[in-house]
Amino acid sequence: MKVAIASDHGGINIRKELISLMEEMNIEYVDLGCECNASVDYLDYAIPVAEKVVNGEVDRGILVCGTGIGMSIAANKVKGIRCALVHDTFSAKATRKHNNTNVLAMGERVIGPGLARDIAEIWLTTPFEGGRHTKRVNKVTAYEATHG
Ligand code: RB5
Repeated sequence: MKVAIASDHGGINIRKELISLMEEMNIEYVDLGCECNASVDYLDYAIPVAEKVVNGEVDRGILVCGTGIGMSIAANKVKGIRCALVHDTFSAKATRKHNNTNVLAMGERVIGPGLARDIAEIWLTTPFEGGRHTKRVNKVTAYEATHG
């Protein structure tokens, strides 16, 4: 598995933590920034990660901002992205099993680095359950294909 990761200025610390986690897990990653301490716009980081996922350069994306909200809104504008904003381990597992999410968003002003690591580890290792969930995910994809 290959993962693209990015944050805005509000998510740098958790992004670095998750890069360490992926190194420990031997997961290949590409770090798309940001490298700055100045204020940047979350969309400028969410879209490159989302586009790498939909064009197949990477399998999954991880995005961190202050709340995770801006990143998740922006990523979900890209066709083919199913981005979940997750701040608990139950949802991390459920959104992989049920929604087959391909991007994970978290907020550094919401949770600490320890919980963020646990969430990311669960999300990276939990497979899609398929079955009845396949039809539901396909309905989302079909809607996306015929609207906007
Ligand atoms: C930046 O101040 C903050 O708005 C951003 O990191 C994020 O929380 C937006 O949703």
